[in-house]
Amino acid sequence: MSSDSNIILTAIFSVTTVVLGLFLFFVIMMVRSHRKIEAAQRERIRQMQIFSEKLQSAREEEQKQIARELHDELGGALTGIKYDLLWLGKHTAMKSVVKERFQTIRAMVDTTTKTVQRISSGLRPKILDTVGLEAAVEWHTREFTKRTSIEVKLKEINKLPSLDDAVATGVYRIIQEALTNVARHSGATRAEVAMQLNDGELRVEIADNGKGIDQAMIAHPESLGILSMQERARMLGGKIAITSNPGKGTCVILSAPIHGGNQLNEANVAKAGGDSL
Ligand SMILES: Nc1ncnc2c1ncn2[C@@H]1O[C@H](COP(=O)(O)OP(=O)(O)O)[C@@H](O)[C@H]1O
Ligand SMILES: [Mg+2]
Repeated sequence: MSSDSNIILTAIFSVTTVVLGLFLFFVIMMVRSHRKIEAAQRERIRQMQIFSEKLQSAREEEQKQIARELHDELGGALTGIKYDLLWLGKHTAMKSVVKERFQTIRAMVDTTTKTVQRISSGLRPKILDTVGLEAAVEWHTREFTKRTSIEVKLKEINKLPSLDDAVATGVYRIIQEALTNVARHSGATRAEVAMQLNDGELRVEIADNGKGIDQAMIAHPESLGILSMQERARMLGGKIAITSNPGKGTCVILSAPIHGGNQLNEANVAKAGGDSL
């Protein structure tokens, strides 16, 4: 080989090495910057999740406070009015037209008392504090059936260990939202709630025999109720799955790890007897 072709080969080799080197450098820089962007995105998502968890607990705390105020202040005042009206009725001779108006006022006070009771128990189910999750769920499903005429069958509700307040509230709220959706959207005539604890994993299923959920709605950004169920499940370290077949209904499944000690005290169920003012 002549020295000229040697020089040409060396030049080609050097240029190729430099080009390859540059290419490699470029690729490494791209990968690095991509990783940085990914890490920043992960961090942003993590921060948003922490923020939304805090928001959820702040909301729960605020609702608890409003429920207490409604129950104690407004409920108390209404009870006072009720008894004053009773007293008036006993100690006043009324013409029939006045008496009629008087009875209307008494009926209105009773209805308003019930409304306050309903609103305050919706904000913070007192029964949950007193008797625990299973009994609270049973009570809620009974009330749900009374209001909506949708029959709810409780299946496989087995005894749970006593749960942390936040955990019980989270599970209860998920069941509440899933049942509200059954009433609001499914057109179902029947629903089932199952709650089971196996090997430290709680599995709650809320199923209906309605029209089935549109798959696009599950991840839709405006599906705030579903988002909130998912958020609550995540706060419990668990997840929500929603399965559906058109015409065969919808099933919302919560699975979450549960750790707990004492069994619930059944005697408390009778003591609480629902959310009364
Ligand atoms: N059990 C159900 N059966 C049929 N459709 C449902 C059911 N649950 C939810 N959906 C659908 O998913 C949508 C989102 O539900 P959700 O996030 O709870 O919002 P919202 O109840 O405020 O409309 C509903 O608007 C409805 O179209
Ligand atoms: Mg909803």
